[in-house]
Amino acid sequence: EQSRQIQQTLAEFRLSKAQLLEVKKRMRVEIERGLKKDTHKEATVKMLPTFVRSTPDGTENGDFLALDLGGTNFRVLLVKIRSGKRRSVEMHNKIYAIPIEVMQGTGEELFDHIVYCISDFLDYMGMKSARLPLGFTFSFPCHQTSLDAGILVTWTKGFKATDCEGEDVVELLREAIKRKEEFELDVVAIVNDTVGTMMTCAYEEPTCEVGLIAGTGSNACYMEEMRNIEIVEGNEGRMCVNMEWGAFGDNGCLDDIRTKYDQAVDENSLNEGKQRYEKMCSGMYLGEIVRQILIDLTKRGFLFRGQISETLKTRGIFETKFLSQIESDRLALLQVRAILQQLGLDSTCDDSIIVKEVCGTVSRRAAQICGAGMAAVVDKIRENRGLDHLDITVGVDGTLYKLHPHFSRIFQQTVKELAPKCDVNFLLSEDGSGKGAALITAVGCRQRELDA
Ligand code: BG6
Ligand code: GLC
Repeated sequence: EQSRQIQQTLAEFRLSKAQLLEVKKRMRVEIERGLKKDTHKEATVKMLPTFVRSTPDGTENGDFLALDLGGTNFRVLLVKIRSGKRRSVEMHNKIYAIPIEVMQGTGEELFDHIVYCISDFLDYMGMKSARLPLGFTFSFPCHQTSLDAGILVTWTKGFKATDCEGEDVVELLREAIKRKEEFELDVVAIVNDTVGTMMTCAYEEPTCEVGLIAGTGSNACYMEEMRNIEIVEGNEGRMCVNMEWGAFGDNGCLDDIRTKYDQAVDENSLNEGKQRYEKMCSGMYLGEIVRQILIDLTKRGFLFRGQISETLKTRGIFETKFLSQIESDRLALLQVRAILQQLGLDSTCDDSIIVKEVCGTVSRRAAQICGAGMAAVVDKIRENRGLDHLDITVGVDGTLYKLHPHFSRIFQQTVKELAPKCDVNFLLSEDGSGKGAALITAVGCRQRELDA
């Protein structure tokens, strides 16, 4: 009886192919709404133009600074790109911590902290007087009107610094650099991590025209036909669009598959009502869904002898890292118990079997709905090009994709099943999106010289 009730709880997370096809279809509807002039303003999937009009062609050249803000790590990088026959990219980088107080303090504090880290990095590299061009990977939704202007639409994930939403973050960065009065930089481009990832992969593999992040957050970008991007002037060629698909469902269109646990996660978050799809499929929230289910099962007496510990009440305890360990097939149940123990959860053998099943169910749904979103994207590209069959490469990054033992496989399987007319090749981005930001900066610098 107990096991029947547990199965009943988890059944809500087990989506049929018909349901997944429905998710794909709805994503397609939202994509169209984001692209069209008369609907884009209220569209939830914003389809933001990036002003990146082509993938790299190997002629990019120069030394660039890059910032990479918004994922697990904040990095400052020096990227040296050499063009020509022996083209190469050399990178130096340093990771810096961003304390929670800074992520959720004032905008000025956040940008001062960023500039302090750049300053430290330039000292470390001995390059303070260079006035380098800089590409800023900023992994949040920005309304761009050019390569070097981006108005923050809304913070997502764990950030909530004041006085930034509605502001041009490039200006905020420039002002902070001025305040410091220590060095000069030329901010050339603001880049979403999906776009940086696509560009990094496209440098090695020219068929890469889609970028995917399955990490702390979830998002994708792809090369869309200019004629379809109604809010940007011009009909020739293509432009990369940052979809901001994490907000899919914010108009209620996924309510039939959202569970009460998804709602609880949403209510407990920094941005209630927003990023509903992201909250069902990205690393920052999967552990929270698991925790909500475990709390419920415990309350109903099926787990942990019915005792809700302080640990279980703690937000964010199940990081992607832990979920990945718990779901690893190489782990014996005893080891699962040891992990739970480490987290402060005293479990029996039966408990650990249940916990593992809960984790598996939640991450499988995540991979599947993420795959349904991707299926909508590649099919859209195929239709754009009037093809019966499309071969395409997707550049991918993110801790969930890279660390989780099953996510990437289930995700790929789902894309294959839901978009049978597309042959999709997935390419892992090796060096994060900083390299892509530098490549975009290189193109931006060249364009400026041409315009001058
Ligand atoms: C990294 C990129 O490789 O992937 C980051 O450089 C990006 O900019 C990240 O945000 C996404 O992964 P995660 O899991 O760190 O959010
Ligand atoms: C969030 C951000 C988005 C980013 C994604 C992955 O969804 O809004 O810009 O690409 O996380 O980091």
